Amino acid sequence: MNSQRNLVGLRFLMLGTAALSIGILFGVIGSLQFLFPKFLEQLSFTSTRPLHVSLVVSWIFLAAIGGIYYYLPNKCGLPLWSERAPRWHFWIFVVTGLAILASYLAGKFGGREYFEYPAALSIPIVASWVLFGVNYFKSALRQAGQWPVYLWMWGTGIFFFLFTFLEAHLWLLPFFRENMVREITVQWKSYGSMTGSWNMLCYGTAIFVAGKISGNSEIGRSRLAFCMYFLGLAGLMFGWAHHTYLVPSEPWIRHLAYIVSMSELLILGKILWDWRASLDCYQKNLHCNAYRFFVATDFWIFANVILAIAISVPAFNLITHGTHVTVAHAMGATIGINTMILLGSVFYVIREELPMDVRAACSRQVSYGFWMTNIALAVFLASLVLAGMVKGLYSGGAFQQMMMEIRPYLAVFAISGVFLMLGLWILLFNAFRLLWSILRKPVDHATGPVAAERVTAQAG
Ligand code: HEM
Repeated sequence: MNSQRNLVGLRFLMLGTAALSIGILFGVIGSLQFLFPKFLEQLSFTSTRPLHVSLVVSWIFLAAIGGIYYYLPNKCGLPLWSERAPRWHFWIFVVTGLAILASYLAGKFGGREYFEYPAALSIPIVASWVLFGVNYFKSALRQAGQWPVYLWMWGTGIFFFLFTFLEAHLWLLPFFRENMVREITVQWKSYGSMTGSWNMLCYGTAIFVAGKISGNSEIGRSRLAFCMYFLGLAGLMFGWAHHTYLVPSEPWIRHLAYIVSMSELLILGKILWDWRASLDCYQKNLHCNAYRFFVATDFWIFANVILAIAISVPAFNLITHGTHVTVAHAMGATIGINTMILLGSVFYVIREELPMDVRAACSRQVSYGFWMTNIALAVFLASLVLAGMVKGLYSGGAFQQMMMEIRPYLAVFAISGVFLMLGLWILLFNAFRLLWSILRKPVDHATGPVAAERVTAQAG
């Protein structure tokens, strides 16, 4: 009997791994189209870019949502208020997602940047977040006493996603649509805050899983973690300013916004750094897959902060803004930080649900995938930064000539992108396979081998 476990979250994790696997393929096609504009002409860059971005961002949401649906009932002792709502949520996501992909493939665009599908498809997205939000708060409010920081982060992320998603649709009202500055300001403001909302979901997940691996629940209640939460909240509400370069604003507002989001990242980096130092050898090996993704997250946090500080220096910003350096910043954060955290979370869930001994937990394939992904990512980001700098410094006239100058960097970008894709595919394939085997044959945690292993581990 396995009635105690609620595995609905695993469906979201599986869907997330599938979305990312397909999404990166469109990224690779897009990078080849930089080099050979006629490559796969039927599927132009106008379609491959939104296909890539929508699928990889779906991965971020699906993996974060799946984690929350899994952790609340199974790890936080907070049974879901509704067990049926996540199933609805899942199917709404699948059907709407397929409709969005079909509209991109058919070249039918209707919305604004990042939400380029016909706007009516946003209605089911809103409905699914309302379902998720109500279920989350009804379940989390069962927690007696003070909430640990991750419950605040998840709740804040859900609320602000819904808020900013609705805000991103204000262009539907003539008051906003008929004034370009007003429309662009609101649009980019909402995007800036929306990234803050998914960061809340991811950082909450990182703190939760780190606490579970170390067995130290204080990580989620520490002053440092709450300090990070409030900085993140301030960044989310006011820190969108560095996403609104397109519209006139006072420079100090942008600089303050930058300082807030960078300090938030630095605190997360410090929490993970301290957490790493606190683990003993057994804990590291027991969760060896999840552990290494968090170590990688820490590395990429520092690399991203350095890049972000560099591109916020006015003289440097003048050269790099709107070039591939900005894309490196976006992908550096979504791959290096969000994706690494979420892969750590997925492998933590797998480890918790699958009975395996400590040695088997560190699979060789995951190890290959991990190193291939991280090494390729370093080359990938460096080539984007160099392409952006050469573009920014280019003083000649013809666009064509400038493109010839950055071509070698774009070639390295595309080749490293292929390796990045292969590395991620190894990881995602393994995760998908293991999640599938768990869903097909859930282990009885009360009497099965997991329980036996726990007893042995405790005795040891
Ligand atoms: C975990 C994997 C990945 C994530 C999370 C990710 C995320 C993103 C995001 C958020 C953007 C939008 C950037 C912006 O608007 O400034 C983007 C753009 C892009 N990505 Fe990725 N990406 C991933 C992997 C890849 C791979 C493997 C490639 C292959 C080379 C790739 C190629 C591209 C291209 C060509 C663009 C468009 C850049 C432009 O518009 O100039 N991505 N990606």
